[in-house]
Amino acid sequence: MARLNAPDPALDAALAASDAAGLPPIQVSPPQGKLLHLLAGAIGARRILELGTLAGYSTIWMARALPAGGELVTCEIDPRHAEVAKANLVTAGVSSLVDVRVGPALDTLAGLAGPSDLAFIDADKPSGAAYFRECVRLVRPGGVIVVDNVVRGGRVVDASSTDPAVVGTRRLAEVIAAESRVDATVIQTVGDKGYDGFVLALVRP
Ligand SMILES: C[S@@+](CC[C@H](N)C(=O)[O-])C[C@H]1O[C@@H](n2cnc3c(N)ncnc32)[C@H](O)[C@@H]1O
Repeated sequence: MARLNAPDPALDAALAASDAAGLPPIQVSPPQGKLLHLLAGAIGARRILELGTLAGYSTIWMARALPAGGELVTCEIDPRHAEVAKANLVTAGVSSLVDVRVGPALDTLAGLAGPSDLAFIDADKPSGAAYFRECVRLVRPGGVIVVDNVVRGGRVVDASSTDPAVVGTRRLAEVIAAESRVDATVIQTVGDKGYDGFVLALVRP
């Protein structure tokens, strides 16, 4: 797999800067980042929406798929994370394509009109259902919504769980299942970060 994800100085520097700043190592894995990049390219994304910036690692992967004149809006509640991300975006040479919005993602989303081609939901998990509803509003027909961390080591199948992330993810699954405007699947993943998975949803054309 390493042969398909060669070392990348800008992405490696973003991870190093994130660690040095004491941010948690909860960014997507390199293969997931590459998948986001490939998805954005495959659908010819010109406008991308991201919820949960952290240090900008996934942001860099997706921004690199944008054409000149494209735009990625990324929402981050923690100003310190946003500052680290902004510096990483400059280092990666994509800062002119990215608008980092600091504040609760739902507040930022309420001020957006769309349309976006791709949305990546990777912020606080209890709000997943609300984020998904907003992304269905903002992503164009034929566009794609990806939601990270929906398997959670298998704990998401436990209906008795009181873990807010599990409860939020179970609620998200109900909302997706009831949403006639999307068609979705879950891809389960195993890697350095354990057993997890993501939702891949197509907004019906
Ligand atoms: C899993 S990390 C994002 C990782 C990033 N997408 C990556 O892969 O490089 C989640 C981020 O969401 C942010 N966050 C949490 N609650 C939020 C909220 N209500 N609005 C916006 N961002 C939020 C956290 O501060 C954190 O930086």
